[in-house]
Amino acid sequence: MTEQMPYHEEQELNNNTSSNTHFNDILDHYISRRDLIKKTTNGAIALALASSVTGYANAQSTKSDQQHSSQTKRPEKLTFQPVAKNKKDIVTVPEGYQVNVLYKLGDAIHPAYADWDDQNIPSGPSFQFRSGDCHDGMHYFGLNKKTKHMDESVSSEGLLVMNHEYINPTFLHPKGPTKIDGHRPEDEVIRETNVHGVSIIHIKKDPITQHVSLIKDSLFNRRITATTPMDFSGVAKGSERLATVFSPKGLKTRGTHNNCGNGYTPWGTYLTTEENFIGYFQRNANDDQQRQAHEIVALKRYGLKAGSSSKYEWDTAIGHVQSQDLYDRWKANVTQSSASEDYRNSPNTFGWMVEIDPFDVKHNPVKRTSMGRFAHEDSACRVVEGEPLAFYMGDDSKGEYIYKFVSDAKWNVKDTNGGYQAGDKYLDKGTLYVAKFNQDGSGQWIELTYGKNGLDLTNPIYPFSDQADIVTFARLAADSVGATKMDRPEWCTVHPENGEVYVTLTNNSNRGIEYPTDAANPRSYEDLYADKKLQKGNVNGHIIRFKEKNNKTTDTTFEWDIYLFGAESAMPSNINLSGLTDNNDFSSPDGMWFDSRGVLWLETDDSAYTDVTNCMMLAALPGHVGDGTTATTSNGQETIVGAKVNDENLRRFLVGPKECEITGIAMTPDNKAIFVNIQHPGEESKSFDQPNSHWPATQFDPTNTTARPRSATIVITRTDGGTIAG
Ligand code: FEO
Ligand code: CA
Ligand code: CA
Ligand code: CA
Repeated sequence: MTEQMPYHEEQELNNNTSSNTHFNDILDHYISRRDLIKKTTNGAIALALASSVTGYANAQSTKSDQQHSSQTKRPEKLTFQPVAKNKKDIVTVPEGYQVNVLYKLGDAIHPAYADWDDQNIPSGPSFQFRSGDCHDGMHYFGLNKKTKHMDESVSSEGLLVMNHEYINPTFLHPKGPTKIDGHRPEDEVIRETNVHGVSIIHIKKDPITQHVSLIKDSLFNRRITATTPMDFSGVAKGSERLATVFSPKGLKTRGTHNNCGNGYTPWGTYLTTEENFIGYFQRNANDDQQRQAHEIVALKRYGLKAGSSSKYEWDTAIGHVQSQDLYDRWKANVTQSSASEDYRNSPNTFGWMVEIDPFDVKHNPVKRTSMGRFAHEDSACRVVEGEPLAFYMGDDSKGEYIYKFVSDAKWNVKDTNGGYQAGDKYLDKGTLYVAKFNQDGSGQWIELTYGKNGLDLTNPIYPFSDQADIVTFARLAADSVGATKMDRPEWCTVHPENGEVYVTLTNNSNRGIEYPTDAANPRSYEDLYADKKLQKGNVNGHIIRFKEKNNKTTDTTFEWDIYLFGAESAMPSNINLSGLTDNNDFSSPDGMWFDSRGVLWLETDDSAYTDVTNCMMLAALPGHVGDGTTATTSNGQETIVGAKVNDENLRRFLVGPKECEITGIAMTPDNKAIFVNIQHPGEESKSFDQPNSHWPATQFDPTNTTARPRSATIVITRTDGGTIAG
């Protein structure tokens, strides 16, 4: 029996070897000025249980639901006491706020299942009815008790939907992950696939105390896992690129995994992303010899070279409880005479934006292929009544791109609660674009449509034969049109007042090294970690924002600036370009969301400043594109920066426990409860019996030295029941 090595995200972050930043001449060739002007199985049990949604435990509907409008005003300034940087093993919040741990790894969502026990880890199959691991993107949907559909005004009762990105295997299994005679034990693999995916949990909030709790016997509670059947929809549905022996016509696949940031639609569905999906697949060393040249190009561009082994080695399990086919599908090899007889295309069935209707327990989630396939981090929808919808999306790897999908259909508020049918209307038919940021603060959305901008069979990077090819290999299409290589695009959010779009660029150790700096990715510098390890590139990350030219969702040009630069407060002013102080300095912005009032919440997934502080969340009150000036960075790059911040408009609200990431953000509509995810506390621990963190046990018993660390959702409320950051 051997222990598995921990997995590190860095292993699959650097696959953009395209030379496209040096190919501006090619761009000019493809996109003439004239063109630019012109273009202005496991699930079965859950479904059976949920087939008739009848009753759920009593939840109180309150007058406060109708009265919440008084709480929706954006605060003039931030007045909570800023939280000091620290390395404690608890979640620290401002004075007058309290933390409730709502939903931890292994917590049961069905009354028939006992809760997690460190000394007696529950069976793999039971996790179909338990919280997954590594909680990530999240959204709150108010529940109308009468209609059993979304009601955006309800704070007393709702469905909280969240991603479970990946796993911390050291603490998930009784003695860490194991392998026996070259095979992962099936129970461990079932536990691991079940703790991936998405949770939908039914919660209620007390109108007086604001205390939030799980309604354990609700039939809305369910898990979507790495095994749940999913349908394809959109332009690649039925494409030969999606054909597998499971669905020879390319109509279906099983599961969603590595779900990172999230999105949500104005009609009341949840969008989950498939980020670092590629590492879950194995390929034989000689598989290239069975493939055509363009297939090899695509596999390489998405990071799956011949000879790759899979991150968790699910492909090595032997099926006794489940069908062997569920493990074989992780081997992406040519083994039969056609793609419809093997799993060579299995990786093409992941990397999509997935729509889940939390209120619809009958239908499969839908992979929306027209929105493109890449390491999807997050999405933010800009909604203007009577205009097409715009979905902004990041591809989180070094040097990857920012995309926008614009629906053909114009938003009609009558489609609210339209479920998957509304999804068919707005997410299947539309145009995919990729962003190019110019040095002068302007930018273009470049259309990724078959037959335009050189995207056809004659393309020298990849021979695109149709639009299904373009969306399936969107990265290659974006390379071909000269999109700007960014410093790892993570979350996107839309300012509710002015429609400006913000995107976190978390960091890039390669900026200024393999990727030259440019105005939109302007910093490359050195920093010491713990006075000994030298860190290089864009060490602390930044947040870019842009405004569509005519303020329309359909615009194909925009203006941009950099709202905020991560930095240590003591760094020189040509690195600490936003003027951060001890009350608001941070590194590696990742999660980010504007609440309905226009308060921006920022979360960090950092390893560059963790010698000084654990990861954190900040609140911000940003201005607008163009409120700052030009600047020159320490490496001599000209750029465009937003107005400097101060601690009345950027303040640290929370610091997490040891070795965690802070991610996922949602609020009830009355702004009195804020939900945050604490992902992988203690992730650097070497062994299950030597945890570096004991959170969440430490939150209520700081002396605890025995508990396993567990990812969890927390709820923060004010002790006086007031408005968060109000
Ligand atoms: Fe899963 Fe890009 O963070
Ligand atoms: Ca440092
Ligand atoms: Ca993230
Ligand atoms: Ca991250």
